[in-house]
Parts: sequence; C-alpha cells; structure tokens
Amino acid sequence: MTAFTVGYFVGSLARASINRKLALALTRLAPSELRMQEIPIGELPLYNYDFDADYPPPARALKEAIAAVDAVLFVTPEYNRSIPGVLKNAIDWASRPWGKNSFTRKPSGVIGTSPGKIGTAVGQQHLRSIMAFCNSPLFNAIEAYIQFTPGLITDAGEITDDSTAEYLRNYMVEFHGYITRVYMALPRTGA
Ligand code: FNR
Repeated sequence: MTAFTVGYFVGSLARASINRKLALALTRLAPSELRMQEIPIGELPLYNYDFDADYPPPARALKEAIAAVDAVLFVTPEYNRSIPGVLKNAIDWASRPWGKNSFTRKPSGVIGTSPGKIGTAVGQQHLRSIMAFCNSPLFNAIEAYIQFTPGLITDAGEITDDSTAEYLRNYMVEFHGYITRVYMALPRTGA
C-alpha cells in the first residue's frame, strides 16, 4: 500500500476538546501507511483580503503545511448546525489569495463528534459544501457522525467502546483507499 501524509485540522480551540480527543484516537487507529500530523489553526488572525499581498507568518505556515501533506482531514465540532468560525477562518486563509487555493486537488475527509444524537451531521454537510467549492476531492463514504458520551475517548486517545473503535479504524482504512484512488487519477508529481 502507498504511504501518504495526512494533515488534520481540529475545529476547536477548547482545552478539553472532544474533537481533539477524536483526532488523537484517529491518529492511533490509522493504518501505518497514513502519517498523521496536525495543522494548527489557533494563531491565525481573522482573515480579510487586505492580507493577500503579504500573508502574516501563521497564515504562510498554514499554506506551507497544507502544501506539505497529501490529504487533509477535518475533525470538527458542529456549532449552531454549521462549523466553528475558527475553522472557517482557517479555510478562508488557505483558499486565498485568489489563484493560490491550497485545497485544489487535495483530497479531504470530514469527521466530528458532539454530545448531540446526530453527532455533527449538519455541520459536516456544510463543510462538505465549502470543500467542494474549494475544489477538494471529497471522501464521501463512509460517513462518521460520532455521538460523544462521557468516557468514550480517554485523554490518551483510546476508544473505550469496541464497535466505535472498529468503525473508526475502518474509516481510516477507507480514507487511505480513497486517497490512493485520487492519486491514481491525479498523480502527485507535477500536480
Ligand atoms: C455547540 N454545541 C453543538 N452541538 C451540536 O451537536 N450541534 C450544534 O449545533 C451545537 N452548537 C454549538 C454552538 C456553540 C457556540 C457551542 C459552544 C457548542 C455543543 C458542542 O457539540 C460541544 O460543546 C462540544 O464539546 C464541542 O466540541 P469540542 O470543542 O469539545 O471539540
């Protein structure tokens, strides 16, 4: 199997973020052919196009980090049935300046957890719509809407429920398969 690097975004800056725990769990469960690394978003100022001529260092670092990975994975809460502003801000930075969209041809996956019964489903649909516009080939199946219950994921990123762990392991295997197929059609060299 081909190895790929996946940069993951955590759409929450909260210290006790359950989505950060999920990201850690996914890193542990991912097949060894996926090298997982976080792309941090917490230092980004709020975007506006006045910055386009000269991006500040955190925004340059963001674009460099995305360029350095083969795929991106969004692990995000749902806020008011959409995505948190902090994540949208990072996506807006990465998508600009015009003509230099970092997500073009970069495969992406979307996943998230919340205590609610539909486990970020609506927020994920918004994010898919955003990433489609950003011209990212989207990993559409399988979907993962994880309802967080107390203790489901330990601070060390261990899933305490076997069926959830198996589901997420399979999610990462399928994501790897999807990235492989994207790069069969769109080879990395010269992309
Ligand atoms: C929420 N929460 C929430 N949950 C949900 O399932 N659907 C929603 O639309 C919202 N909306 C929402 C808005 C705002 C402003 C906050 C602060 C929270 C609850 C949310 O799922 C919960 O706080 C999670 O713990 C957030 O994930 P992190 O930050 O812990 O990873």
